[in-house]
This record gives sequence, structure tokens and C-alpha cells, in this order.
Amino acid sequence: MNALVVAVDGPGGSGKSTVSRLLAERIGWAHLDTGAFYRAATLIALEEGIDPHDGLGVLEAISGRRFGQADGVMMLDGRDVSTEIRSEAVTGAVSEVSAHPAVRQAMVALQRAWVQDRAGTVAEGRDIGTVVFPDAHLKVFLTADPVERARRRAGETGADSVLVGEALARRDQIDSTRPTSPLRPADDAVIIDTTGMSIEAVVAEILDHLTPV
Ligand code: DC
Repeated sequence: MNALVVAVDGPGGSGKSTVSRLLAERIGWAHLDTGAFYRAATLIALEEGIDPHDGLGVLEAISGRRFGQADGVMMLDGRDVSTEIRSEAVTGAVSEVSAHPAVRQAMVALQRAWVQDRAGTVAEGRDIGTVVFPDAHLKVFLTADPVERARRRAGETGADSVLVGEALARRDQIDSTRPTSPLRPADDAVIIDTTGMSIEAVVAEILDHLTPV
């Protein structure tokens, strides 16, 4: 059986995570946060003192480690790392780690296997519709005004929104210009600008595009 996927891609602060979680709940599908895999890989690199620019070093460090995710909890070798993967240190290095093709290949394999074990999944990330699941049932690309994205992210963490905006812009730049799987909408994605929209309104718009399976 072919597992069903709704792909939700977009930059940080576009509303991806909240929207994907709520959408999955509404349609009774699983929710996969692929960014958490890249964050967990980054945590390993930092804990082992590996330079995030050293792709082969990171690959070696993550090989043989057990990545798991269920109900929004990210596990590494049986340890709950959900909080640690949101640290400033991980957020600051994750774009470097996720730019390495070999690291991406390993993460994509894990994400595909995860989805195969479920009947339906709302998968969120940067390359879900373009690379990981090019045959997704529905592809959505969320965008939002950079100032609003920074405000949303700052609201989640309590950090200064100007500094958050600068960090987001830096990550956007790396994520969108990397040669392997850059952040971009798939040609057949539904693009939704979430600026000024409530989460409910975004989910309702996606549900409108979701044809019965
Ligand atoms: O969604 P997030 O902010 O937790 O993602 C963290 C980083 O991981 C982001 O800067 C880019 C990378 N990422 C990626 O390259 N591909 C994905 N499918 C998901 C995230």
C-alpha cells in the first residue's frame, strides 16, 4: 500500500508546525516534523564536538544512532531530546548541518520509513513536496511576511523579535540557496500566504484543497 502524505513546506515562522499538527488532528493522520530530525542530528554533532561544517564527520556521528518520533516527541537512542533540539545552540547550527547532501540522504531515508509505517501523514519541512514525497496527495507551501514570522517565533520563545528576525533571515538564506534540496515550493504546491491569517483559517483553506482519498 502506498502511504498517503500531505506535504507542508515553508520557512520558519510561516505557521507550518502549528498548522500541520492541527491539520493532522482534524483528519486523523499522523504528524511528522522533519525539522526535528535535522535538529537531532545537529544535537549529536554539538554533543560530540563535531564542526557543523564537517559533513562527513556529522554523518559518521549520526550513523547507528536511533532516531524516533511520536506525538511530537523527538527521541534519540531512547532519550527524549524534544527540549534540547530547540536550544539556541542547535537552532544556530542546524542550517549548516542540514546543508550536507549525505546527512540529508540519511534523514530522508528515515523520514520515508517513518511514513511507510502509517496509513496517512501530514509531513512538514522544507523539501517534503519537492524531494521527500514528490507524489504527495497534496502539497502546501506556507509563506508569511518576515516581520510577522519573526514576531511569531519571538512569541513562542520570549526572545527579542529583531534578533529572532535576523536569525530567521540567516537560516532562510542558507536553506534557500543550498545546492541540495533548497527550500522552494513544488511546481504543483498550493501556496498560502499566512500573514494576518489565523491558524484555523489556514487549516480551513488546506482542507478545502484536500480531495477525499
Ligand atoms: O522547521 P525547523 O525550523 O525546526 O527546521 C530546522 C532546520 O532544519 C531548518 O533551518 C532547515 C532544516 N530542515 C531541512 O533542511 N529540511 C527539512 N525537511 C526540515 C528542516
